[in-house]
Amino acid sequence: MAKDWNPASWRSKAIEQVPLYPDPNALAETEKRLATFPPLVFAGEARKLKRALGEVAEGRAFLLQGGDCAESFAEHGADNIRDFFRAFLQMAVVLTFAASSPVVKVGRIAGQFAKPRSSGSETKNGVTLPSYRGDIINGIEFEEASRIPNPERQEMAYRQSAATLNLLRAFAQGGYANLDNVHQWMLGFVSGSPQAERYGELADRISETMAFMRAIGIDSETHPSLRETDFFTSHEALLLGYEQALTRVDSTSGEWYATSGHMIWIGDRTRQIDNAHVEYCRGIRNPLGLKCGPSLAPDDLLRLIDILNPQNEAGRLTLIGRFGHEKVGDHLPALIRAVEREGRKVVWSCDPMHGNTITVNDYKTRPFDRILKEVETFFEVHRAEGTHAGGIHVEMTGKDVTECTGGGARPVLAEDLSDRYHTHCDPRLNADQALELSFLVAERIKKEHETRAPKSVVNF
Ligand code: PEP
Ligand code: CO
Repeated sequence: MAKDWNPASWRSKAIEQVPLYPDPNALAETEKRLATFPPLVFAGEARKLKRALGEVAEGRAFLLQGGDCAESFAEHGADNIRDFFRAFLQMAVVLTFAASSPVVKVGRIAGQFAKPRSSGSETKNGVTLPSYRGDIINGIEFEEASRIPNPERQEMAYRQSAATLNLLRAFAQGGYANLDNVHQWMLGFVSGSPQAERYGELADRISETMAFMRAIGIDSETHPSLRETDFFTSHEALLLGYEQALTRVDSTSGEWYATSGHMIWIGDRTRQIDNAHVEYCRGIRNPLGLKCGPSLAPDDLLRLIDILNPQNEAGRLTLIGRFGHEKVGDHLPALIRAVEREGRKVVWSCDPMHGNTITVNDYKTRPFDRILKEVETFFEVHRAEGTHAGGIHVEMTGKDVTECTGGGARPVLAEDLSDRYHTHCDPRLNADQALELSFLVAERIKKEHETRAPKSVVNF
């Protein structure tokens, strides 16, 4: 167990990005109630994810992590969850089949509600109000009353997370993810695009393979792995009072676990070594993510690794680089070399979203070609360093939104942004763009396999 740590030890540390609740007693009451609620996830599941991520760290699997920038109360519904899950499964199947790589599936979902902000306030038409910090904290409407942090929102976020998780578990284990359904995961609006055609061909090949396997006695009835999948949840552990209330001792191991999600991560704005967020995360046993932006120096990264993964456990720590398409080539190699030199086991993942945000026509957007460029450079850097490009971390949705510009045969243009711009925070890939990205990633993984394959392949 971590030394001098308890679920509340973060409270004596400096903290960034903390909302100011006007009624501290009401907040304390909410946290007390949350602490009596059932866990959302179980320690055994978090351990299973850590083992799977250990395979990624060792170069034998790939991590796909994605979902909304911010989940919202307004968009909570079965259709949204189903469409997200379908788009996500499509990406995963492209990576698994086209790249012959096991894929660890982690959603930014069922708990991704709290948002760090660059500025504490927002000004519109001469009126200044506190910034929106995610539905778990305050409301997005530009009105004074809705911007006041309200602790009751934490219970709403907890209940929404429980309902979302319930449906996701049913989808993942109840037959929806059955590989026999691979054709049905195509979303209506994507059909007709070049990606859809490519996906259709891949789905045909999978169906053929399934038919062949059935003929030799292997089918989804007898082999659960063909009809079920492991799907895990993750979110940024920003609102530490909420996280603390859901931190529980696992009766099997006697260790502390965050039960708000399987994996939690530390954001780029809250990764200060002596501060509260690092303090909280070091003591729980879940797999952790750490966002790594351009301001992170190699020595500071090593100190963070010492604190967050002192036992050098493979799968415990995922480093999620988010540098921007122009900076990744300058910053990533030094971090990789430092980690390699010290023999630290980490998963290297690429978030090509957060370093590539620009404003066009008053909309926050991300040009798709820059997103692709950051991912490509990520793979190139790892190839040059001889390390495993382990995963991607994307903001995406199953809906036909117009939030990121560019992409495929039907690019989203700057003037289209206002059409279906629904995000509560950062711009997401739509299902078409997400699929296109996954084909590119599959090709890069295949290339990596070719260059890193053992030399002594048997020749028949
Ligand atoms: C995010 O993932 O939504 C986010 C805010 O990322 P970062 O901490 O990398 O800026
Ligand atoms: Co975001």
